[in-house]
Amino acid sequence: MSLSLSRGKQLDVGHHGIAQDDLPPMDQGTLDPRHWFNNTPNPPPTDSPTTPRPIELEIGSGKGTFLVQHAKLYPDVDFLGIEWAKAFWRYAADRARRLEFNNIRMLRCDADMFIRHYVPDNTFQQIHIFFPDPWPKKRHHKRRLIQADFLRQLHRVLVPAEPGREGVARIHIATDHAEYFDWIQEHVAKVTDLFDRQPFVSPKSAGEGEMVGTNFERKYREEGRTFQGMILAKRP
Ligand SMILES: C[S@@+](CC[C@H](N)C(=O)[O-])C[C@H]1O[C@@H](n2cnc3c(N)ncnc32)[C@H](O)[C@@H]1O
Repeated sequence: MSLSLSRGKQLDVGHHGIAQDDLPPMDQGTLDPRHWFNNTPNPPPTDSPTTPRPIELEIGSGKGTFLVQHAKLYPDVDFLGIEWAKAFWRYAADRARRLEFNNIRMLRCDADMFIRHYVPDNTFQQIHIFFPDPWPKKRHHKRRLIQADFLRQLHRVLVPAEPGREGVARIHIATDHAEYFDWIQEHVAKVTDLFDRQPFVSPKSAGEGEMVGTNFERKYREEGRTFQGMILAKRP
């Protein structure tokens, strides 16, 4: 996969790519992902006069297409992508480095593990999950990323909701897989105390006629698949 993705070119993740081995041991406490962007110490000094920049998370970034399209429109926001597959992670980190996106970092690891064991409460302004692996076989359903317990973790790491302020403390989800969407709805129904469900709204970075504009969406659109999505707004 690596060769076909890179087309024989040497990929260089530079400081845009953080490997799983770069993570400190889990028992050393939480790790503020913001320190990967501006080299501030972790944790940042409490007497720091500057307000930290907002940070958003994308889980399962693939080739990083959403990130490079979206981060361009929001230069004052930092974007962390987490990608499990090494070849995609290398491709996306190299792409962000080549295009000189100082507001993108790609972390290679399992998103569930990282969020559960490393991320402090109230960290991300928004979370994006586009076309998560559907694991269609029943015996594999337990591998699905979106489950009630995981949604509770996402609730914990989202910043607090601010009444009247759109666009913060939200999870954006899109999928092409009808049965996975039903599953997501069932799990969302278990956490209605934490989130209000809202209709999906395409990000500003989506192209004309696109829901989000990721690689998988473009591929699936050619196959004639239809898409469903939702936004989960953290309850105040
Ligand atoms: C179907 S692809 C979609 C990629 C991209 N979002 C898109 O729409 O083009 C799902 C991606 O999620 C990644 N992924 C699956 N489970 C993950 C996990 N637990 N943590 C991080 N990445 C994961 C996969 O490696 C894969 O690249």
